[in-house]
Order: sequence, then C-alpha cells, then structure tokens
Amino acid sequence: MEIKIIKSDYVTSAVRSSQYPEEILPEIVFIGRSNVGKSSLINSLTNRKNLARTSQTPGKTQTINFYKATLKITEPPEFKNFYLVDLPGYGYAKTSKTNRGIWAKFIDEYLSKSLQIKFVCQLVDIRHPPQDSDLQMFKNILEKNLPVLIIATKSDKLSKNERAKNLAVIKKSFGIDELPILPYSSKNGEGNSDLLDVIADSL
Ligand code: GTP
Ligand code: MG
Repeated sequence: MEIKIIKSDYVTSAVRSSQYPEEILPEIVFIGRSNVGKSSLINSLTNRKNLARTSQTPGKTQTINFYKATLKITEPPEFKNFYLVDLPGYGYAKTSKTNRGIWAKFIDEYLSKSLQIKFVCQLVDIRHPPQDSDLQMFKNILEKNLPVLIIATKSDKLSKNERAKNLAVIKKSFGIDELPILPYSSKNGEGNSDLLDVIADSL
C-alpha cells in the first residue's frame, strides 16, 4: 500500500473559534515548544518547501494555521481530505508574557472546542529530555481525552547510540510504558511514511 499527500494548500489562520475554517474536515494537530520543528514537519510531510513558514528564531508561528491536504491511498486508489493544523509554540521565554498568555489561551480553546481533531502530534526535541511545559501540555491533552502521538524531532542530529538512549529518557519522563514515540527528521525524511500510515489509519 502506498500513501502520500498529493495536494496541500494554506486555508486560513485563526486566533478564535469564529475564524476556524468553514469546511469541516478531520484535523491532525502539531503542538510543541517553540522551534521544535512543527512547521518544518508540515512542510516535509507535504513535500513542500515553504507551505508553513519556518525560522531559526523561536516564536515564528503566531496563529493557528490550517492547511488542507489530500491523501492518496493505493491500491485501489482512494482520496481523503483533512487539515494539518500548525500551532504557535509554547515555552518560548523571549516573547512577551502577554503574548504567551494569549497564545496559550487560544491554543487551549482550540483543543477544547474543535470536534474534528483525530489526534494530536506532540513534538519534543530528540536531543533533550521533555521540559516541564511539555509534561504539562501532555497532561492537558490527555485530560481533554484527545489521542496523542509523541514525535521526537530532529533525529538527524543524533548518532544511533545517542538516539536510543534519548528515546528511552523521553519515554520515561512521560511516564507511560507503552507510549509510542516516533523519531522524525524533516531533513532526511525519517518517520515520514510511518506518520502518513498513522494519519491514513485515523481518517
Ligand atoms: P515556532 O513556529 O517558532 O513555534 O517553531 P516551529 O516548531 O514551527 O519550528 P520550525 O519548523 O520553524 O523549525 C525551527 C528550526 O529548526 C529551523 O531552523 C528548522 O530548520 C530546524 N529544524 C526543524 N526540523 C528539523 C529537523 O528535523 N532536523 C534539523 N536538523 N533541523 C530541523
Ligand atoms: Mg512554526
């Protein structure tokens, strides 16, 4: 079976529920600390260079951004539309406190109000143990009864040894033995087809 995204388009940006897209489609959400690689992952998954704007400086994405994507599943050919939803990062110390508060509020509103969320991809940097803000967000997602997939980003930055070690630490920090963690690299495509499988299964 081959699964790929054959089309992707920016739809809209929102900071409140009245601005969510009119067309109702299943949503796959990407959440994580600023600079962890949420927007880059959306680009790599859709095979687009600049669909979602990325930056070396944290705090790039400042609104809830909806991208409509078409998944093609073969054989027999089947097409499924859904949204990839990019969120502002949390835990970015340099942005103003007011800004952080506003972002946290509309992210929480979105996670609480949207009825279309299939699952939440929570991204953590594979090089570091999850921070308090990550554990807090994880708890928050579980409390809302949303399915969550942990994605360990920037896997290209570690050797095979370091990476096994770090994945174990990450799993332990989240405190759930059976928690699947998907290593991902937007640079070399690792994890790409696994994530497409999970998305296809959820739709
Ligand atoms: P905010 O929008 O600020 O919350 O950040 P973000 O989570 O969307 O991160 P973004 O995708 O903008 O990436 C941040 C930086 O990390 C950029 O310089 C990317 O090139 C880099 N980056 C993202 N993913 C990877 C990856 O898989 N491997 C490597 N080596 N670098 C990555
Ligand atoms: Mg971003």
